[in-house]
Amino acid sequence: MKVNGVHYKTIWMESAEVLMIDQNKLPFEFSIHRCSDYKATCRAIVNMTVRGAGAIGAAAGFAMAQAFMSKADTEKARLEINSTRPTARDLFYASEKVFAAGVHSPALAQQAALDIALENENAGRNIGILGNELIKPGARILTHCNAGWLAFVDYGSALAPVYAAHKAGKNIHVYVDETRPRGQGARLTAWELHNEGVPHTIIPDNAAALLMAKGMIDMVITGADRIASNGDAANKIGTLEKAILAKHYGIPFYIAAPSSTIDMNTLTGNDIIIEERSQDEVLKQTGIDDHGNMHTILVASPGSPAYNPAFDVTLAELITGYITEKGVLTAGHLTPSLSS
Ligand code: MRU
Repeated sequence: MKVNGVHYKTIWMESAEVLMIDQNKLPFEFSIHRCSDYKATCRAIVNMTVRGAGAIGAAAGFAMAQAFMSKADTEKARLEINSTRPTARDLFYASEKVFAAGVHSPALAQQAALDIALENENAGRNIGILGNELIKPGARILTHCNAGWLAFVDYGSALAPVYAAHKAGKNIHVYVDETRPRGQGARLTAWELHNEGVPHTIIPDNAAALLMAKGMIDMVITGADRIASNGDAANKIGTLEKAILAKHYGIPFYIAAPSSTIDMNTLTGNDIIIEERSQDEVLKQTGIDDHGNMHTILVASPGSPAYNPAFDVTLAELITGYITEKGVLTAGHLTPSLSS
């Protein structure tokens, strides 16, 4: 995708270095963060310099390759990489594939990591083409969190069909849940859509019911971090609530995700580990003042605790379809062959 006319990917590798767009600084500052070794790449995953299921998958693959290339203790590196974030399936998919290749040679590890990043990008392109077929002209689409190109290597999952529909001149409008506590919708999805000139409006997380009740939403498309074999899908906290609302109001609810997100070894959503994040994400907010200076401020009653689960699980029965790079599937058709 383009930023100020220049084509960027979210994350890439140059020799033994991993480079990524610093997502903690967006939308206020665009800068590239460099990780010279696997430990630095792990830190970037943990502190969410890089985030989003596909992008952390690519990062994990690159980190594993860096460990082999620097002749680090690769068993230890594998454990460190796999403990950075627990929920997204792509992270484990990538680290394990690169580890298996790296046992033969560091060069094969790097090639496997590059292949995974390319696979991720190609999946996004195809999800865009297939998902666009579901979007009617003039559609008003609700999305949650950021499952755009920043959450992948390029294109995205939930936003890939949106970009394709916009390019096809379908006159769509996207309603963007702000996605508290970290605000990936208000900060990242809105930034992406603005860059691409896609008409959009940020809404408070608790406004979706009102918009649906008023007939202002035609379809919902979100991403997924892990899809269990029965079709239950973990995604950013708040997704379940949108799916229940969509069912109530008879609005189609789609999950867009590459097939690498489908985990046939996880039988149901109950088996998915849900990441819990720092209370500070709920209690504090970071942004810029009118002079462009960044501040973090307390936005809750001093001394009160917070609970911050980062994901929830949407039951398969609430999901109209899964837009993958291999086709638009329904829950009963998520077969092992799709989760290579
Ligand atoms: O915690 P994050 O920002 O890494 O959250 C993951 C996500 O980006 C979302 O859950 C997204 O909707 C699906 S993954 C592309």
